[in-house]
Amino acid sequence: MNAHTKIETIAFSRNPTSKPVDAAARAELLKDPGFGRVFTDHMITIRWTKDRGWHDARARAREPISLDPAAAVLHYGQEIFEGLKAYTRSDGSIALFRPEQNARRFRASAARMAMPEMPEAMFLQAVEELVKIDRAWIPGGEGSLYLRPFMFATEAFLGVRPSHECLFVLIASSVGSYFKSGAKAVTVWLSDRYTRAAEGGTGAAKCGGNYAASLLAQAEAIDHGCDQVIFLDAAEHRWVEELGGMNVFFVFDDGSMITPPLGTILPGITRDSIITLARSEGRTVREERYSIEQWRADAATGKLREVFACGTAAVVSAIGTIKSANGDIMIGDGTGGPITAGLKARLVGIQRGDVADTEGWVRKIG
Ligand code: PLP
Ligand code: COI
Repeated sequence: MNAHTKIETIAFSRNPTSKPVDAAARAELLKDPGFGRVFTDHMITIRWTKDRGWHDARARAREPISLDPAAAVLHYGQEIFEGLKAYTRSDGSIALFRPEQNARRFRASAARMAMPEMPEAMFLQAVEELVKIDRAWIPGGEGSLYLRPFMFATEAFLGVRPSHECLFVLIASSVGSYFKSGAKAVTVWLSDRYTRAAEGGTGAAKCGGNYAASLLAQAEAIDHGCDQVIFLDAAEHRWVEELGGMNVFFVFDDGSMITPPLGTILPGITRDSIITLARSEGRTVREERYSIEQWRADAATGKLREVFACGTAAVVSAIGTIKSANGDIMIGDGTGGPITAGLKARLVGIQRGDVADTEGWVRKIG
């Protein structure tokens, strides 16, 4: 082990922007930010090289990054990212939701993509540093500050092997609802042509390539008037896996729930939180494969009462209808149901400080 691998935290140089967006313009941007279009004044960058390890940590003005045209990420796609939110709570404080889990998953994604594993303490330091600098960008009401840490291979080398240089960047975006429809039930398109991940692949890693591979299916979903695509497994094309950017849950007439097992899907932090919350209400939650044929049959008999998608960006969103080349499936009356609404209210309540945080999920920022 090299000496640098022991470094867990890092000192940041701080160079605030000389041209911050003025308060009036910012207030205008925060009125209806949508998702992923409004960015804050600053960003964090940390470099990694094989020789020096993590170094050159900076809190700085958000600006374009210059890259050598031979940078490995531009050729072989060595890139990973995370997504988490900072919330203003009902008492005016600011908090993150389970950020250690994002730090952990970022390491797991790095390991899968043959990239350096950023120490979790350093990841959390970066997140807290940016939230503190750009706290004025957290929208009021139901909005939040979506944090996007990412890392990519910067070495100028065309040989195919893990890069010896990487850049970690953290940006932040003021966001409202992910879906244009707001809180209403969403419609999903079942992709029968494209799959997202296979056994032994990168499905469990949060790497840009997974999303690149999903875009054609997502475009197909939009062409069919749907909000999101839902994928089946790659081997048999029958087992429901997840949406393009969210995990999925099925709720039955006896109050029990099923969610697809981990393996080829992204291990969602919202998914894990929902499992915990539902079990704490006494519900049975099975992490079990669920087929598209069963979905159709259970929707027809009324055994399947609710379906919802969940993730950091989407929070908890009822799925009302699923469309496919073989016909549509409507769930209930197509507008969502009470169990979905109840779980969403508990989750959001914990994040906002209105419901007791019995699991210790909330991390306040000073
Ligand atoms: N599945 C995919 C493919 C995602 O992109 C996301 C979003 O991060 C999720 C699931 C949900 O993960 P989380 O709840 O950690 O945001
Ligand atoms: C998230 O929920 O954080 C996601 O990454 C989903 C999508 C915006 C990629």
